[in-house]
Amino acid sequence: MRHLLDTKTLSRHDALRILDVAEDMRDTQTREIKKLPTLRGKTVVNLFFEDSTRTRISFEAAAKRLSADVINFSAKGSSVSKGESLQDTAQTLQAMGADAVVIRHGASGAPQTLATSGWISAGVVNAGDGTHEHPTQALLDAFTIRKRRFGADSRGRDLTGVAVTIVGDILHSRVARSNVWLLSTLGADVTLVAPPTLVPQDVSAWPARIRYDLDDALAAGPDAVMMLRIQLERMNAAYFPTEREYSRRWGLDARRVASLPADSIVMHPGPMNRGLEISADAADSPRSTVLEQVANGVSVRMAALYLLLAGERDTTNAEEAAR
Ligand code: CP
Repeated sequence: MRHLLDTKTLSRHDALRILDVAEDMRDTQTREIKKLPTLRGKTVVNLFFEDSTRTRISFEAAAKRLSADVINFSAKGSSVSKGESLQDTAQTLQAMGADAVVIRHGASGAPQTLATSGWISAGVVNAGDGTHEHPTQALLDAFTIRKRRFGADSRGRDLTGVAVTIVGDILHSRVARSNVWLLSTLGADVTLVAPPTLVPQDVSAWPARIRYDLDDALAAGPDAVMMLRIQLERMNAAYFPTEREYSRRWGLDARRVASLPADSIVMHPGPMNRGLEISADAADSPRSTVLEQVANGVSVRMAALYLLLAGERDTTNAEEAAR
């Protein structure tokens, strides 16, 4: 794998490969083998032009657990504030020896530009670009659903027959887009639920059905309900009902959680707006996989970095090391 830019073009084979290698990585963590030598001598640059807690820290943890060196770059406090371009910033980091660049950017398409412009030779991982995609979030979500469903038998399995309902601010959500593409590639049945003003215009071209009534969608008994953060920072008043109305009609609360089948899980990519799209008791309920998703994110990002930087040629050794 040369780059990881999106899930729309990620093949079923490559998606399952990442999830299966992530299983190996997770096994090492649960056996308390905290550090593998696999990426010794490699340098991973975290290039973050937008804020992040989970994604940035878990890429850093993933790289360090594979023994790579890590350079963290945040646009805040850098020469970006003096007008330095993406090209010059990236080439400066490449000159410091970057083998992989993990980029989060407010502009949709920035990782693709970095990967295809010829400015740098490093592998590029999209850590979230504008409203476009957040592929490693979708991969860790798929990993979490698969793990919950198949446990120790997860390897090699796709999500055929699994019903996933994604609820909330679909319009602004790169997490929703990446999940729709990945989950459908893996065979899951995807339903989107949102107020009509928070549905993208091109949604009819997506491999998902759209519903507007959350209680109707939950009555179908989905295996996983994924709540999305309301992106108030990107919101135009015209899109959004009042917070009280949103929470009443599209928020997940204890009553709605109780209406789900006993083995359904409640997901959220974080950060959560508690009391808006999800109540505290739903977020903290035994059905919630929010912290499991965070932990799985490290394994999935280890797998992505490994496949980018060590590739198929070292697969056997890495898996042996991981076991
Ligand atoms: N889920 C997610 O991308 O969280 P962060 O913005 O904290 O990285």
